[in-house]
Order: sequence, then structure tokens, then C-alpha cells
Amino acid sequence: MEQERTIRAALLGAGTVGKGVYKLAGLLQEDIVKKTGARLVIDRILVRDKNRKREGIPAEILTDRWEEIAEDEGIEIVIELMGGIEPALTYIQEALRRGKQVITANKDLLAEHGAQLFEAAAGQGCDLHFEASVAGAIPIIRPLRQSLAAAGLTEVMGIVNGTTNYILTKMSEEGMGYEEALQLATRLGYAESDPTADVEGYDAGRKLAIMASIAFNSRVTFPQVYTEGITKITAEDIRYAKEFGYAIKLIGMTRLTEEGIEVKVHPMLIPDQHPLASVRDSFNAVFVHGQACDDAMFMGRGAGEMPTASAVMGDVIDCMRNILHGSCGKIGCGCYLNLPVKPIQETASRFFLRLQVTDKPGALANIAGILGNNSVSIGQVVQKKSHNGVAELVIITDSVRERHFNDAIRILEGMSVIREISGIIRVYG
Ligand code: NAP
Ligand code: HSE
Repeated sequence: MEQERTIRAALLGAGTVGKGVYKLAGLLQEDIVKKTGARLVIDRILVRDKNRKREGIPAEILTDRWEEIAEDEGIEIVIELMGGIEPALTYIQEALRRGKQVITANKDLLAEHGAQLFEAAAGQGCDLHFEASVAGAIPIIRPLRQSLAAAGLTEVMGIVNGTTNYILTKMSEEGMGYEEALQLATRLGYAESDPTADVEGYDAGRKLAIMASIAFNSRVTFPQVYTEGITKITAEDIRYAKEFGYAIKLIGMTRLTEEGIEVKVHPMLIPDQHPLASVRDSFNAVFVHGQACDDAMFMGRGAGEMPTASAVMGDVIDCMRNILHGSCGKIGCGCYLNLPVKPIQETASRFFLRLQVTDKPGALANIAGILGNNSVSIGQVVQKKSHNGVAELVIITDSVRERHFNDAIRILEGMSVIREISGIIRVYG
């Protein structure tokens, strides 16, 4: 009888995702043999602290020495789930140099060093899979790289951070405070090891850099992405947004324009009727538009142990098939163009503007005049309340170039009737 083929893999990291992957690989053991024709064996896991007990993981397979994995020629797949830039970059480069296939969920690394890693993988004819790096369980990398390769993509937009979507959902639906919601998201395993990356929009920015690079065949790196997080969003903003018929979401958006690639992440008022407004909790959703495919939408769990493990294990199974068929490394970097990234100031948006204004005749006319002089046209304006001589003014503008809007804000900041600029949030449409 023919001996069963075995493929050995090592995990780098046994945190939220690493534990999930080990668990799922165990549950799917026989299924994987049937699907691929080979048995997957994960018998080495790199961690910082190998003496810490980890439920469901035998202590003898833990190591704190990378060399034990790098130098083991029998290990064919390295699954990097540590996060961060170093030592992940060095380890992945070495794994590729040694001819090992690599799977990673590390968006920090791909969004800054993607070009280098793809070059290293191509040089060795190795697979470099990264489905879990964007939007958790949602298949979006493979569709962008493969299924939509002929779609003529012009826009990718959506909610790509589970932590912030969870926080905004809790604040909006349950009136929960920001800190409490963040603690819950961290406990549920959604947040990054440093949640600043989530709440300041960096995590979503990294995902946008990865998607923009694939969609437009031109390398976009994280420092080129404009990012603004959710830390300034208040319960008041959420309340007013609701009153106007909007939900506030952290939105990532990238577009192909004649002047280059627009790529940005920021909170946005989304109309209640828009499908993104009803994407709740840790769910993510990505819309794409292409000249040939028209509109398509992908939605699912964007973070957490098992949803992310599902994406990683999908990559593992794909990689095993490639190993068995001798077809590793067939999809390379794909960034054959070198398009410029448009500065945020040259992009256009509608804005929600909340102001505290001295309640006296002519104040509104002055404000409207300054906005008008700077090409900012008012779509909607409401004076919400007047208390102790101060009125709260909420304005929604028409679409305006960000440079013009910011010029107007600088002038408003210096006006004596303006007591405070309490909120500025972009508006969809
Ligand atoms: P995590 O819970 O912080 O786990 C990180 C693991 O890596 C830990 O086991 C840690 O070891 C190990 N590690 C870190 N630095 C190391 C080093 N220098 N040497 C050896 N081991 C090291 O992180 P996670 O949430 O699982 O995320 C892992 C990756 O997946 C990140 O790139 C993240 O962005 C990405 N991701 C996460 C999610 C999610 O929902 N959590 C979703 C999609 C993608 P110790 O246990 O000994 O400290
Ligand atoms: N911290 C990330 C999030 C994990 O909340 O979306 C998934 O990439």
C-alpha cells in the first residue's frame, strides 16, 4: 500500500489566531487528507514564552528558538501569526530563502515590506499567502488577485476593522462608553496587541494599502494612506448622526482616478439605507466596483480566533495542493504599474460640521459667507439648541475638495463668534 504523504508545518505564534489555527487544523485533520491527498502535521510552534501552559497545545511542540524551525528541512510550510515587523520580516525572508512556503496574517508587514517579500517568494518559486491579513474570514485577497483579475477594478471601499466596528456598534446601540467597548473588543480577541492600531485607523490603513496594491496593480504602502481614527467620535456625534438618518462607521476607501490612486481611512456618516450602515459588531464588509464586473460585495466576520483561523487554514489547504502539484509560486506580486498616490487635500468629500456659536444676529450669515467664499456649499443646516447664549449649529456640506474645506475651517477657528468646533466627520455620497 502506498504510504500517506505528510506535509509538516510550523506556526510562529500561539496567540488568538495561532491557537485557533492549531485547533482548526486538529478538527479538520481527516477532512484535509480527503481534500488534498496529504496529512497536515503541525509539530513546531514558536512563542516568546515556551513555559506558559497553553490549553490544547502540547508543551513539547513549543519552542522559543526560531532556528529549530528554520533549520528543520522537513518543515515545508511556515505560518506566521506573531504580528509586527521584526522579527517576522527576518523569519519570513529566511523561510523563503530556505524554500519553505509561507502563510501570514500580518498586515503591518505586508503593507510596508510587501514588495520585498513578494520578490523573495518569486525568487524561490514559493507561495506567499495572506488571505487573513485583510477582513478576517472574508475571502477578499483571493477574489481581488484571481477571480476579479479581469474586472477592471476602479474602487474598493468598506469596513475592514472589526474592533472599531464593534466599538461604534456598542456606543450607538447600547450607549456604551468608548473605553468599556474597547476593553470588551480586546477581551474577545479582536484588537491588535496594541489597540492604538485599531482605534487610530492604522490597522484599516494597512489593509487598504494591501487591497489598493492588488486592485490597481501598483504598490501602495501604509505611509501613503491617509488615516484618521475613531477616538474623537463622541456620543453627541452619534446621536446627531442618527437624527439625520446616518450611522457612523470607520470606512476605508481606495479609488483609481486620472490623477492617481486615492486611498484613505476615516470615520464617515453612512445613510441608514446603505448596506454598510447595517454591518454591525465585528463584521466587516468590502464593496468593489469594476468596469467589467460592476458592483460586488463581500461580508463576514472581520476578526477573532476562529474566523481568522478559517482564512489561514484556507491558505494552508491551497498551499498543500500547490506543493503536491508542484505549482507553488504561480501568483507573484502583480504590481507592474507605478501610479502616484493622490494627496488627501486633493480628494473631495461631503462634511458634517458641528459648531458651538455665539447666538447673535448675523452669526450664521457670517459662517455661511466664509464657507461660500472657500467653495464650500451648504447642503443642510440645523440650529439644534441655544443655551446660555450659545447655539449648536450642525451643517452638512455638499462635496468639496478637502483643501478648500480646510481653508474655511482655519478661518472659522479664528472667528470670535465660534466658541468651539465640536465635530468634523466626512459624509458618504
Ligand atoms: P497575539 O494574540 O498577540 O499573539 C501573538 C503570538 O505571537 C503570541 O503567541 C506570542 O508569543 C508570539 N510572538 C510574538 N512575538 C514573538 C517573538 N518575537 N518571538 C516568538 N513569538 C512571538 O496576536 P494575534 O491576535 O493572534 O494576531 C497575530 C497576527 O494575526 C497579527 O499579525 C494580527 O495582525 C493578525 N490578525 C489578527 C486577527 C485577530 O482577530 N486577532 C485577525 C486577522 C489578523 P507569547 O504567547 O509567548 O507571547
Ligand atoms: N484588529 C483587527 C480588527 C483584527 O479588529 O479588525 C483583524 O485584522
